[in-house]
Amino acid sequence: MPTRPTILLMQPFLKQIETKLDETYEVERVFAAQDRKAFIAKAAPNVRGLVTGGALGAPSALIDALPKLEIIAVNGIGTDAIDLDLARRRGIHVTTTPNVLTDDVADMAMGLILATLRQLCTGDRFVRGGRWPKGNLPLARKVTGKRLGILGLGRVGRAIARRAEAFDMAIAYTDIRAFPDVRYRYIATLEDLAKESDVLVVAASGGANSQRIVNQRVLDALGADGVLINVGRGSIVDEHALVTALAEGRLGGAGLDVFSDEPKVPEQLWPMNNVVLQPHQASATIETRLEMGELILSNLAAHFAGQALLTPVI
Ligand code: 8YV
Repeated sequence: MPTRPTILLMQPFLKQIETKLDETYEVERVFAAQDRKAFIAKAAPNVRGLVTGGALGAPSALIDALPKLEIIAVNGIGTDAIDLDLARRRGIHVTTTPNVLTDDVADMAMGLILATLRQLCTGDRFVRGGRWPKGNLPLARKVTGKRLGILGLGRVGRAIARRAEAFDMAIAYTDIRAFPDVRYRYIATLEDLAKESDVLVVAASGGANSQRIVNQRVLDALGADGVLINVGRGSIVDEHALVTALAEGRLGGAGLDVFSDEPKVPEQLWPMNNVVLQPHQASATIETRLEMGELILSNLAAHFAGQALLTPVI
């Protein structure tokens, strides 16, 4: 058994963060291994900490493979890919990185709203493709003053609402309950919210309760001029229904940072000019990834010093 705690690192981090991890822990880098399964099996007996991403998570098979696991530190806020029940039963702590990524995710949502309605990526391709001298781009859609529906008024949803206020958008939301501390309009059902929105932003967390709740009925309520933005989780949207609605012109457009089966993105979406696609980048800025990494380091340090965790989930 090594004297320093062994950490299983599922994804690369910024150099500064990895250097600090190396200073304190035995770091086993799964992402660098040719045969990841064999690598995990070899490291498994010593692993006391698992550092993983929100989308990668920690499924039961991985947790089961790590008999000495004490803490799972997630580089993100989503715990939908973690078997929390199993972690609880095993007495394994789970931490996330709330707050530090809120602004970035909200910025990405606004970016996707602007890029989708104003055809920013299409315009960029148009210029680079040398097509401007031969004609004009079709007119875009105005953002200012539009009706914005937010699914999930947590920290991220609220940060999106604050930004949308600067665009004079009429803001409404749905969630499991109304929040008396906000002045935005609460609409009890997602379908009704979609009906009353020009742009519907998914800012909820993934998991069993939100599985494919943005279904065909919701998309049809949003309608042929409506736009869906997703910075939450791909699992929240019925992706097949979304692709079909876009292909049939029953939905106006979509700006998507997350997908059902990342990194796979339905190829039908690729040629669509009314769709803006991102490879799950909402929290992917140097500044924020540094803060997320530092928070992981602090949580690990607290745990191995027997102190209270900074941002525990369990
Ligand atoms: C990260 C996320 O991109 O917060 C989450 O749950 O999905 C994102 O912020 C992901 O965790 C990558 O590590």
